[in-house]
Parts: sequence; structure tokens; C-alpha cells
Amino acid sequence: MKVTFILQDQTARVVDAEPGWSLMEVAVNNSIPGIDADCGGAAACATCHVYVDSQWDEQTGERTPLEQAMLDNSFEVRDNSRLSCQIDVTEDLDGMVVEVADS
Ligand code: FES
Repeated sequence: MKVTFILQDQTARVVDAEPGWSLMEVAVNNSIPGIDADCGGAAACATCHVYVDSQWDEQTGERTPLEQAMLDNSFEVRDNSRLSCQIDVTEDLDGMVVEVADS
């Protein structure tokens, strides 16, 4: 399955994503710039911040409480902000588009 990351320079990178990984891990494995994942996926750094294209809201689910708390203290937060380490890749996300937030 494929996921598209829109980079900070607005170019698109389409990468393979395997179910069972987090979206952050997919980004890191594919060296997506702007996804640093400093905390290793603990929802404690916000360096994996992305904006989820609205058509994928339902499939990506709600923010977790920890994620919400982290986003409350982050920059450039939008309604569609998510921490990509808190999004589990499933087959339902095939074709998803996410934009990498400014770090
Ligand atoms: S990797 Fe740190 S919050 Fe996602």
C-alpha cells in the first residue's frame, strides 16, 4: 500500500507502507524530511507532526489523550494535526495523503 507525504517544500513523496507500523515509522524508514521522531514514538516530542488530509479523518481515528496534550503545546497546530507516531498503518489507509508540519 502507498502513503503520500507532502513535504515542507510542497513536493510529494509516495512511499510503501506496511500495516503494523506506525505512520511515523514509515516516514523515518523512508527518510522523510521533517519527521525527526526524537522521542521514538512516545507522543512526547511532536517532531512527527503531520496534517492529515480531511478525507482520511475517519480512518485515522481520534487523537489519543497524550497526543492531544502534546499538540496543545505545539506550534502551527490545525484541526487536522496529528502526531504520526500515534497513527497505526492499516490497509484502510492505502492512498492516504499527509502533509509534514514545519518543525
Ligand atoms: S515521535 Fe515523538 S511525538 Fe511522535
